[in-house]
Amino acid sequence: MSAPNKSYDPVEVEALKPEEIERMRDEALAAFAAADSLDALHEAKVAHTGPASPLALANREIGALPPHAKADAGKRVGMARGAVNKALAARQSELEAERDARVLVEEAVDVTLPHDRVPAGARHPLTTFMERVADVFVSMGYEIAEGPEVEAEWFNFDALNFTPDHPARQMQDTFFVEGPEGDRGESGVVLRTHTSPVQARSLLDREPPVYIVCPGRVYRTDELDATHTPVFHQIELLAVDEGLTMADLKGTMDHMVQSLFGADMKTRLRPNYFPFTEPSAEMDMLCYVCKGESVGNPDRPCRTCSSEGWIELGGCGMVNPRVLVACGVDPEKYSGFAFGFGIERMLMFRHNVEDMRDMVEGDVRFTRPFGMEI
Ligand code: PHE
Repeated sequence: MSAPNKSYDPVEVEALKPEEIERMRDEALAAFAAADSLDALHEAKVAHTGPASPLALANREIGALPPHAKADAGKRVGMARGAVNKALAARQSELEAERDARVLVEEAVDVTLPHDRVPAGARHPLTTFMERVADVFVSMGYEIAEGPEVEAEWFNFDALNFTPDHPARQMQDTFFVEGPEGDRGESGVVLRTHTSPVQARSLLDREPPVYIVCPGRVYRTDELDATHTPVFHQIELLAVDEGLTMADLKGTMDHMVQSLFGADMKTRLRPNYFPFTEPSAEMDMLCYVCKGESVGNPDRPCRTCSSEGWIELGGCGMVNPRVLVACGVDPEKYSGFAFGFGIERMLMFRHNVEDMRDMVEGDVRFTRPFGMEI
């Protein structure tokens, strides 16, 4: 370390001349002002405030000055460095603000721009509607049950008390996969003609109490036209418990139509016959459009119910004790009710679909108005 030189004259130290210090300061200020990016500013910062910058070097010279000269030079250099640091900080925040504003603009998303992406697919309205109906029952504690679409004739007919000569078994109604003369003995194999075989399957599978709904596909030998399709969907409901009566059936159905069509809906029963229910009934629901007000009122005709006031829903009844016996359930202890109806028909009147073919042809122009429910 060298001792301070008593004869040292600060004026003669080039770097500490006032005009030199001013020049260094002004160069630094100009470099900061010229920096047009944060990177450029960083370079200018290193060059003008770093340990090798002219002002830092000048500062180091002060230590070598005689005491009487130190204060003056120190003050000048200190003020210059202060001004430089202040300008640096100001430019830094200016450039940061510019960057933030630019990022906001560059990364902004215009949600109103048209897009050319392939639209997302959605499930078919039949599927979503069928699930909505099933959900009504699931919320009441029912379980979803399933059965095969290629079904043993025994489940489709025999277990359900269809006699061997029942007309529904004949070829004109039923798709046979394998006739009764096949190697399975008495029972052939069919495409199920209704979801009711799931009643028998569920009773064989479970111990009562049984509360199930089965949405599914069924088949009948119909030509595809405006009101028929050989493949369609049904929802089956079965409840077997102690003490169930027709009042429970009616109450359950009223709840279903109220959930689907509104609180002021109701159902009515008309006598009918099914081999697997006794007594059996046809279930109608109040027309949800005219609420029955079109009946006998020619001024207010209703297209939905053809001014009849009621819409046919499906078949129902108390489970025939013979079915309970065939499935190993004691009819002295248990009783049950069942209900089955077609989803296509319900979707048709609920959405004014005039031609059943629209539902099966897969044209998105039909499904799009139902929305993108998934
Ligand atoms: N399975 C019957 C049909 O397809 C409907 C039905 C279900 C009737 C349950 C009574 C009970 O027509």
